[in-house]
Amino acid sequence: GAELRGIVAMDGPSGTGKSTVSRRLAFGLRARYLDTGAMYRAVTLAVLRSGTDPADAPSVARVAAEARLSVGTDPERPEIRLDGEDVAAEIRGEPVTQAVSAVAAVPEVRGLLVAQQQAVIAEARGVDVGIVVEGRDIGEVVAPEAGLKVYLTADAEVRARRRSAQDSAQGRRVSIDETHADVRRRDEFDSSRAVSPLRRGTDAVEVDTTHLDVAGVLAELSRLVVESGLAV
Ligand code: DC
Repeated sequence: GAELRGIVAMDGPSGTGKSTVSRRLAFGLRARYLDTGAMYRAVTLAVLRSGTDPADAPSVARVAAEARLSVGTDPERPEIRLDGEDVAAEIRGEPVTQAVSAVAAVPEVRGLLVAQQQAVIAEARGVDVGIVVEGRDIGEVVAPEAGLKVYLTADAEVRARRRSAQDSAQGRRVSIDETHADVRRRDEFDSSRAVSPLRRGTDAVEVDTTHLDVAGVLAELSRLVVESGLAV
């Protein structure tokens, strides 16, 4: 099978199936996978655990500077640790999901995490291994040198339904209306923040997943990878 050389940037709002297809794409192409959203979530968990108000930006910046984050890049077992503790499950919970947009809007937090993300990418590139990087600002800020930049979209209602299915699968029950409102609130917040707002970069290829299943999205992504000359 083909292997990925270089960087694939996967941006877009939540509920587009971005994590699932990014992981599978990386796995299929024997590449690494970096989930940058998990890093913002882990910092948010540190903020909540310290009793800091997520809206208190200077305090949030201090907590972020002190948190020891480590992130794995195996697409089969993405790992995220906060001060040595595995927090993969806890960062998907409701408290973190509610507070993460505020934390991700703090410029010092973004500065710290972007630097860490760029170090992870540089390490993979140093050993000539491809990497699929998923987030909101990858093609524009984290890895503008990416050989392929994808912007995944889907109708807000479809995204809410997917999020809700994911929540149920993980044992959380939230109503579809609540999820729909939450998806819209988070998109609005992430798109309107001053630093690195969520938006499609001019050189990103938009892939609308509203009417595609996972296999359909993967087929389209594989085509784009080959077309970009990133598969060897
Ligand atoms: O993809 P996710 O739901 O795990 O992302 C969590 C939050 O982090 C989301 O509100 C957007 C923010 N985020 C960001 O601002 N920049 C990134 N590169 C990744 C995520």
